[in-house]
Amino acid sequence: MSRPVRWTLLLMTLATTAAAIPPLGEHVVLSWNDLGMHCMNQYSADFMVLPPFNNLQAQVIRRGSATSKPLLLANGVTLEYSIPGNTTSVNKTDFWAVAQAIFGVALPPDIGLTGKGLTGTFDPAGTMFEAKGIPVTPFNDAEPTVERPYQLALVIARNNAGAELARSTPVIPVSVEVNCVSSGCHSSINNILNNHPREGGFDPAARPILCASCHASPALGTTGIREAGYFSFRIHDQHQFLDSRMTGVELCNKCHPGPNTECLRGAMRERHALTCQDCHGNMSNMSRTIENGRVPWVDEPSCGSCHGAAYAEQPGKLYRMSTGHGGVACEACHGSTHADFPSREPNDNANNIALQGYAGTLRECAVCHGDGVPQGGGPHAASMAGVGDEMLRGARLMKAFPNPVRTGCSFTMDARAGEAGRLLINDAQGRVVRMINATPGSARFTLAWDGRDRDGVRVAAGTYFARWQQGERTSAARVTVVR
Ligand code: HEC
Ligand code: HEC
Ligand code: HEC
Ligand code: HEC
Ligand code: HEC
Ligand code: HEC
Repeated sequence: MSRPVRWTLLLMTLATTAAAIPPLGEHVVLSWNDLGMHCMNQYSADFMVLPPFNNLQAQVIRRGSATSKPLLLANGVTLEYSIPGNTTSVNKTDFWAVAQAIFGVALPPDIGLTGKGLTGTFDPAGTMFEAKGIPVTPFNDAEPTVERPYQLALVIARNNAGAELARSTPVIPVSVEVNCVSSGCHSSINNILNNHPREGGFDPAARPILCASCHASPALGTTGIREAGYFSFRIHDQHQFLDSRMTGVELCNKCHPGPNTECLRGAMRERHALTCQDCHGNMSNMSRTIENGRVPWVDEPSCGSCHGAAYAEQPGKLYRMSTGHGGVACEACHGSTHADFPSREPNDNANNIALQGYAGTLRECAVCHGDGVPQGGGPHAASMAGVGDEMLRGARLMKAFPNPVRTGCSFTMDARAGEAGRLLINDAQGRVVRMINATPGSARFTLAWDGRDRDGVRVAAGTYFARWQQGERTSAARVTVVR
């Protein structure tokens, strides 16, 4: 057996035997936010990008025992939500004053576009439950002028008789940091609207203006008018010049929330320094891919593109819609996108601390299996067979020299000059041990790897897969590390 495999087993043994999980009942509720962040405009009398609209998802598990397996409950259970300390929105935004003009519907106070309020119940959604369109703002009742983007909601599961089975406290993230003007970029709202081309019937005076009424946005389900193009295309295309002025999270945070909210807060950011561009590409990539057929909000990055098939979404599904081990949602164990566990924000970690005693990926088998933890590997063990073939399939050849690798090696491949790409090193189980970003200066490109992981520690002896990814093109090589 090679060293990395033994290491996995050791970790799993530690995880299963050292488990001193807090006392739990017969059921657990797993709950989370679908996206990790929802943006909204606090004031929309002039124009609106997004309304208050938040989505919680949940699953209820009847825990296993020595004689039974854990069971995901689909019926016989009701899930209620509330946001303690944040019971009204109507005085914290002008949304209810503009909803009729923008969406053509008269909404009762504190009721959002789907009919959900600040308290309510979840609806069944496949193997999950979902509460869609909660009109929450980032302002609690006690201090309605202080923005708090990471508030806790409370989710309670009850049986048909109304008795509580279990509860959970997901973050319901929302930010009003959508700042064309206060970012220091545009001098005023009038300036933005007056400079918009007078095309497609655009009238800067016909306020309030919903940008997505002409510019298609799958986020709002609008199809817009043909000549206007996708909102995401227009906004990222128009602001492409930012690529040459700024890099990293700071750039995207000019519009996405934001310098104060810093919505990218998960372990991949905090521990491994990933940026928005590492997964989404830069502004030019955001718009160019739409020109080439990408549907905004629908075609998004995938965990599998870097982590490989053993750690991928279900085929054709987004991360937030995917389930893995035993039908449990990826986000239930790993957290919302952009808030992958452990998160920088203590509130994001509250659920898993309550369930397993510490922050991080939900990994204590007993949380779901009770005292009947089955033999066999952890949540991803079943899909690890065939990792090697999958890593190399469909890829062009990449030359590794020297191979076997003692200290380090160099990879040589065909590349596209001037376009950003990344080299990923995965171990035999498919885990990412290193990512190196690079922009080739010429079409024949050589990149060195020092045989170390991101923390600078030499990787263990064994088989590794190196992949050079540039757009849709991948080159790959299998290398053997000897020590
Ligand atoms: C009434 C329809 C309509 C509305 C509402 C609208 N747009 Fe547009 N927009 C268009 C059309 C049509 C074009 C394409 C103009 C052209 O081809 O030159 C466009 C182009 C753009 C462009 C590219 C600008 C350029 O100079 O080429 C941006 C950026 C943009 N819109 C942003 C917005 C924003 C932000 C909002 C909301 C404040 C908005 N639009 C609302 C119709 C609209
Ligand atoms: C100039 C403001 C602005 C900047 C800068 C900006 N965005 Fe956006 N972004 C927006 C707006 C507005 C939307 C909403 C579009 C819609 O409603 O369809 C959006 C939507 C998105 C989406 C979802 C739609 C899609 O195309 O899939 C992604 C992903 C995204 N942005 C990524 C990024 C990344 C990554 C960066 C930094 C490289 C960035 N954005 C920088 C304004 C911006
Ligand atoms: C580790 C990879 C990764 C990083 C880093 C990352 N994203 Fe994403 N992003 C994703 C994935 C995966 C999705 C699709 C999630 C889903 O909807 O299932 C996504 C989706 C989005 C969306 C669409 C809404 C949604 O959640 O589906 C927006 C907007 C977005 N990202 C913006 C950003 C911005 C801005 C940054 C930096 C501040 C960023 N992302 C950093 C992976 C990443
Ligand atoms: C652009 C490539 C990329 C994408 C896309 C990506 N990751 Fe990662 N991920 C990384 C890298 C690089 C690391 C750090 C690996 C290392 O150095 O050990 C990492 C680390 C992790 C870790 C370990 C974090 C820790 O230290 O505890 C988890 C868990 C993880 N990713 C989950 C995900 C999930 C879930 C998704 C999809 C929502 C995803 N990743 C998408 C590149 C990516
Ligand atoms: C978040 C809940 C959850 C966690 C944590 C969890 N499991 Fe599971 N597991 C399930 C569910 C649900 C099933 C599906 C049971 C069935 O087959 O109906 C399952 C099934 C399994 C199975 C296959 C079916 C069986 O009973 O033989 C194995 C093996 C397994 N889990 C092992 C583990 C191990 C080992 C760990 C810890 C490293 C773990 N699980 C952690 C929820 C979980
Ligand atoms: C029952 C909990 C559970 C579920 C459900 C789950 N995972 Fe994991 N995941 C884990 C654990 C525990 C680890 C760390 C141990 C390991 O590496 O296998 C992990 C590791 C990962 C990693 C990091 C691999 C690396 O390179 O270090 C990624 C990416 C990942 N999972 C993606 C997913 C995706 C995508 C889904 C849904 C299809 C999913 N996970 C479902 C528990 C889960």
